[in-house]
Amino acid sequence: MEMVGEARLEAAREVVWDALNDPAVLQASIPGCESLESTAENEFTATVVSKVGPIKARFAGKVSLSNIAPPRSYTLTGEGSGGAAGFARADIEVSLDALEPTVTLLRYGVKANVGGKLAQLGSRMIDAAARKSADDFFELFRKQVDGRASDSTLSSGVQPAGMQAFMQQLSAPVGEAATVEAPAVASVAATAPVATEGVTAKASTSEAVPAASEPGRAPAPRDVPAQPAPTPVSQVPAAEAQAAVMDVLTSEKIKVWISDQVAVVTLNRPGSRNAMTYGMWLAMPSIVAALDRNPEVRAVIITGAGADFCAGADIPEFEKVRADVAQATTYEVAVDACCDAIANISKPTVAVLRGYCLGGGAHLAMSCDFRFAGQDAMMGIPAARLSIIYGVKGTRKLLSLVGLAEAKKILYGGQRFDATHALRIGFVDQVAGLGVVASGRSLWERLIGAKQQVARSDPMAEARTFATSLAGNAPLSMAGAKYLLNGMAMGTGALDLVRSEALIAAAAASDDYREGRAAFREKRAPKFQGS
Ligand code: COA
Repeated sequence: MEMVGEARLEAAREVVWDALNDPAVLQASIPGCESLESTAENEFTATVVSKVGPIKARFAGKVSLSNIAPPRSYTLTGEGSGGAAGFARADIEVSLDALEPTVTLLRYGVKANVGGKLAQLGSRMIDAAARKSADDFFELFRKQVDGRASDSTLSSGVQPAGMQAFMQQLSAPVGEAATVEAPAVASVAATAPVATEGVTAKASTSEAVPAASEPGRAPAPRDVPAQPAPTPVSQVPAAEAQAAVMDVLTSEKIKVWISDQVAVVTLNRPGSRNAMTYGMWLAMPSIVAALDRNPEVRAVIITGAGADFCAGADIPEFEKVRADVAQATTYEVAVDACCDAIANISKPTVAVLRGYCLGGGAHLAMSCDFRFAGQDAMMGIPAARLSIIYGVKGTRKLLSLVGLAEAKKILYGGQRFDATHALRIGFVDQVAGLGVVASGRSLWERLIGAKQQVARSDPMAEARTFATSLAGNAPLSMAGAKYLLNGMAMGTGALDLVRSEALIAAAAASDDYREGRAAFREKRAPKFQGS
């Protein structure tokens, strides 16, 4: 008998891991467990009273833990004899994914065998009993963990060292001025010089020398998003830029959490459906730049707190910051700079969409490489209802994702569309719970070669599994592919062929390329360093 399942627990992963290794918690969670005593490290004797159909028996045997990889996974093996009733053995593979600082997805796969009288009961009865035992176990386990969750501090799941390092990167001096750079996407660069309090902006051009062609300068992955001829469009004095970033971070309007090489950036204004304030647009480029520089981060997920991804720009604030043509122009520069910064980070990015994803929120989502939606996600670009022309870059991204006809329907109509429609037209890549194929694995699970089934109902769990699967791939290869594809998608003028060739050459000269070939020869997993 084999089965898989999952449980979403409201507790930090370390808390769940500790509970999984606590004999008292296990005893209280295993249905019918009368005793569980430690005999050696990771070995216990156990007595369990169990009823399968008409047969009720007391099983005595042992429980052992193996393949232990704290705080992520282990295999729990239980085997026991129930006397005349027969015997049972179960190997349970348990793995923990940290979805959020205090939310853990526990997944399990069970392989069980029974013998003797029990085996004569038939597989249907045994399967039903096993499923019930698993359900009961996780219900009881949840109660134990919930009791412990209140003792946990945020830092137990947040990896404080990573966060501190991240804050330090943000606070690091950035020269005279922190420059919010807009990549020179020549086909769309047409902004007239504008100025506003503390922020100056000027038109981008396509004339500057590509960064990679500077003598002696090999393109590192973090340089890739610089795109050809990065031209400052919005120069914020260093102190002011840092103050804006720190304000957004300390007021937690944008939260960052790094775990297992994946950074999760959360838009955090759930009371306003995570609508983006001007300060948030301004702060985001520095935040993603810091993540791009951070070697501990291999992939980035962007999501919203609570029920929604993002209901777009903060509309009430328009009276103050987007009231006339000059302000609107400056405002759109900040939006573009934010979305470009996300689009051009050298690492893979996934937007996790739940609830509303509207207007500027849709631009944020389209700036990510991939979009994973929950079934409740509701997308739309209501610009035509506010008499706003959606920006050139946002429109271009929409066009390349959904094609001309669908883009026109979305922009002319301003109507919202649901996750199923979004999947059909190509706006999202995956909807949690949809697309499961006959083999029992979804298309994504097959593509990424997931050994276990991925959560059926949680787009964050799917996104994390996917992001983690990419985290082991060659950073230079992915960064180069991203640069080429984004450049091509944004129009031929956006793509610098010289820089493209330089990237390809740098990847061919890299240690990672040698490592990839060596790993293939030696039949082992490669260890890429990004250089
Ligand atoms: N800017 C600022 N606040 C917003 C917002 C936005 N874009 N979208 C929603 N909110 C706020 C609402 O004002 C409300 O706040 P309140 O409780 O203080 O009144 C709160 O979020 C909840 O939204 P509400 O409108 O009550 O929920 P709803 O379920 O009735 O409708 C939406 C949800 C998203 C459909 C609706 O709020 C909406 O149309 N928002 C604007 C979307 C938009 O046009 N975005 C593009 C901007 S360019």
